[in-house]
Amino acid sequence: MLFAAIDLGNMQPMAYLLAGLLFVFALGGLASQESARRGNLYGVLGMALAFLATLADPRVNALPVILGAVAVGGAVGAVLAKRVEMTSMPELTAALHSFVGLAAVLVGLSSYLNPGRAMNNVEHVVHAVEITIDVAIGALTFTGSVVAWGKLQGRISGRALLLPGRHLLNLSLLAMIIGGGALVCFAGEGAALGLSGFGWLLVIVGVAAVLGVHLVMAIGGADMPVVVSLLNSYSGWTAAAAGFMLENDLLIVTGALVGSSGAILSIIMCRAMNRSILNVVFGGFGATPAAASAVEQQGQQVEIGTEELCEVCLDAREVIVVPGYGMAVAQAQRVVDELCRTLQARGARVRFAIHPVAGRLPGHMNVLLAEAGVPYDVVMEMDEINEDFPETDLVLVIGANDIVNPSAQTDPASPIAGMPVLEAWKARLTVVLKRGKGAGYAGVENPLFFLDNTRMYYGDARKSMEKLVLAVKSASAG
Ligand code: TAP
Repeated sequence: MLFAAIDLGNMQPMAYLLAGLLFVFALGGLASQESARRGNLYGVLGMALAFLATLADPRVNALPVILGAVAVGGAVGAVLAKRVEMTSMPELTAALHSFVGLAAVLVGLSSYLNPGRAMNNVEHVVHAVEITIDVAIGALTFTGSVVAWGKLQGRISGRALLLPGRHLLNLSLLAMIIGGGALVCFAGEGAALGLSGFGWLLVIVGVAAVLGVHLVMAIGGADMPVVVSLLNSYSGWTAAAAGFMLENDLLIVTGALVGSSGAILSIIMCRAMNRSILNVVFGGFGATPAAASAVEQQGQQVEIGTEELCEVCLDAREVIVVPGYGMAVAQAQRVVDELCRTLQARGARVRFAIHPVAGRLPGHMNVLLAEAGVPYDVVMEMDEINEDFPETDLVLVIGANDIVNPSAQTDPASPIAGMPVLEAWKARLTVVLKRGKGAGYAGVENPLFFLDNTRMYYGDARKSMEKLVLAVKSASAG
């Protein structure tokens, strides 16, 4: 309708192909910090092209409703994204995935009621299978995301719900979904076991919704970010199933890209946190109570004052900064950058060491440092810099804890045993900025804080940094 003057109908496959390529470029761009902005732009262009090409489809006949819905949804999304704190991104992502799941269920049900064309028996069966997969993953994604959001927001208890025989329950629910799908195929235009095909689809939606709740309830609240990444993957697969159902190639490609990239990200996060992906998929992950560390901490934490730390900073030639969750909470990134520039101006080499799961979401520290204007070439991944700690004069650990915990390597009883960590303890001196004796995300003691070559600089990371920058600047000027 809108594009009646131009015959865009024939151009749709080309537009979809181009949009699909733009999505691939977008993912490629997002792989590195320098190209992330460009990647985002490709994604926006691809989505705009996909949207316009879909509107140009002659089957689209409710344009005012669609544009109205896009305007309302777009406005709500823009306000939410503008307001959300960086540390609350996992909650926002979970909420958005729940919409994808819900949309997939609604599209699946309406496609069953109105397939849009006459179908023979075989086509009906194929269509019924596609719809079953779509609504089942959609309902699971919807309720799983709502529970994940509730746990992250603290509205649902973060404790893992470990029902006896939970794996059997999951398997039974899965069997019911598969059986329900067979009955949808079997019902055809009529009924099977007293219910119409549509009735069985509603049963599948209900069972998958219960499965989504149960799978995520079985996972401890602390591990929700990994679950959110997995639900992201599910939302991609449900979109791909919807693509088959609606015979929309772009939806298949896009869904597969989201599904596979979400799965890869979940695996990367699991590796970096030393978790098992299978446990995340099947629930119960993070449920075992953390084993108490077998090693008693010896010694005590030694404080350092601003004046002494200032001197250490002025003398240091090789400096590594390890940012963590506390830097994000304190919003200390700009003042950290200011300190680093001041030290660089005095001839020191200052670099940042980024752990893959520092903070609370993938790339959390990279985003904060980019926001503060830290040049990319001094921001190193863990593998690039871990060997350099022994030659380092000073390590500044800013609001980080688990990611620099040596017990991951030395204490097999530790809940983080086996997790790769930044070897800050090998430096000549490590100074840890944190407010007090609070534990990190894993809730375990950190022996690094008790070592002879470690000093504690207590206080909110931003306020501590402001004091230090002031001292370093006035000492440099004097
Ligand atoms: P954490 O281990 O959580 O440690 C953060 C430390 O920051 C705390 O010990 C806390 O001590 C301190 N802190 C909090 N607020 C502060 C403030 N305003 N100023 C100064 N310090 C402050 O953080 P990390 O080392 O970044 O490790 C990340 C953890 O999150 C890992 O265990 C990882 O597995 C987990 N995780 C990460 C992700 C992703 S994708 N990044 C996802 C899920 C889970 P005080 O209370 O004493 O100040």
